[in-house]
Amino acid sequence: MLNQFSEHGQEHVLKYLSELDDNQIFTERLEDLDFDIVNYCAGLLKNQHEGHYTPGTLNPTDVIELPETPQQVEEYDTAVAVGEKLIANNKVGALLVAGGQGTRLGFDGPKGTFPVGPITGKTLFQLHTEKILAREKQLNAVIPFYIMTSELNYQDTVDFFKSNGFFGKDASTIIFFKQGMLPPLDENGKMFLESKDRVAMSPDGHGGMLRALFKNKILDDMQNRGLKSLYYFQVDSPLVNVCDPAFIGYHELNNADMSAKTVYKNDPFEKLGNIGEMNGKTVVIEYTELSDEEKLAVNDKGKLTFGQGSIGMHVFSVDFFQRIHDEKIQLPYHIAHKKIPYLNDSGELVNPETPNGFKFEQFIFDAFPFAKKVMVMETERKNDFSPIKNKTGVDSPETAKQDQLNLYGEWMESAGLTVNKDSDGNVTDLVEVSPLYALNKEQFIEKKPELPNSQKGYLFE
Ligand code: UTP
Repeated sequence: MLNQFSEHGQEHVLKYLSELDDNQIFTERLEDLDFDIVNYCAGLLKNQHEGHYTPGTLNPTDVIELPETPQQVEEYDTAVAVGEKLIANNKVGALLVAGGQGTRLGFDGPKGTFPVGPITGKTLFQLHTEKILAREKQLNAVIPFYIMTSELNYQDTVDFFKSNGFFGKDASTIIFFKQGMLPPLDENGKMFLESKDRVAMSPDGHGGMLRALFKNKILDDMQNRGLKSLYYFQVDSPLVNVCDPAFIGYHELNNADMSAKTVYKNDPFEKLGNIGEMNGKTVVIEYTELSDEEKLAVNDKGKLTFGQGSIGMHVFSVDFFQRIHDEKIQLPYHIAHKKIPYLNDSGELVNPETPNGFKFEQFIFDAFPFAKKVMVMETERKNDFSPIKNKTGVDSPETAKQDQLNLYGEWMESAGLTVNKDSDGNVTDLVEVSPLYALNKEQFIEKKPELPNSQKGYLFE
């Protein structure tokens, strides 16, 4: 079996084989290695294949904007009703991608175990699960919760859910699965050794989810449970409106294969993916791929032409997943120049100070061009999106905490309660609303809440 490394020009990784007690670990890694993909990626480095998209002119795409006119409000209400009905009929699942390494945050453990509740310190995983549980209770439904991890954080994630009693959700409705791993390569297409018995491997990107769905028979599970659509979201926003009925409803009403939620950019240079049309297809391109001129362009309504930023929230139709499989659709690979720790010729581990290798990742938004019908819906940032990406500054635990305080403070005020704010309008009291108490402002007001008596802050649970 190990001769596969030699067959594919990677025999250097077997250098220490004679020193090892057994080749068990190497063999385990082999099971994860797909040499066809590795060789394809090595070819990408040599420019033997096309890059991840064919350059063209980006044009704006149709977006369902935030409802303002009576007609828009009526359409929105219809979408909510359709979405709620689908959920109530057990046709909707939640799909969380949590296989990333979270290197920017630098937290030891899966990012989902990061504490974010301003008073309770509830973790991202707990908040996400409670939101799904609350929706199940509201609509008397079962919402299967699929969680993608990588090899690196699978066990920690499963153990975390187990040791917390799955946060009160029926354990048979939480399904964990692993995405694939790929070896980073040096400029000559050679793999790295991270120890004498291990080839360096890293997760294959959130787009690897599509392959993982088939490989792990998750698509079968979705079909067996009779699901029609999946609410896809990323792990890092404590505000995410999981299984938002409006988003699911609009997706259904538009008969879409794949849908995207967007927010209007805070400024033209905000680092969000840009959604638009290119060569007649819906695409998301990274902020680096839009020229400054395009970033600053303004339309006849005085808004940024490419003002809608993609926030990594989608709805997928199960039929689209099936078609991707049937038609053997492959997403392209994005290449990132990274620092890869490696064993040098003396067998010592080196942590390079400058990038020395290339990682290969697939991005889920590259599935858009394959969708026959796409729906794009704008959401209010404060209700959905405050990602934790960095240790400090923008998109950090600090900003996510303030955004939660501001949102829950606004709910309190809408319910006639008073909350303290600073001169910038930021809520200075500690406020937290459990998803099991209310999922949105309307549900909060309906509860007719009274000011809780608490030393620590205002906790509604
Ligand atoms: P990010 O792009 O923020 O990447 O992932 P990351 O790996 O978590 O963080 P950095 O860049 O190392 O700091 C966005 C979402 O996609 C998931 C992440 O868990 C997060 O929910 N993801 C990312 C995967 O599930 N698998 C991957 O291979 C990469």
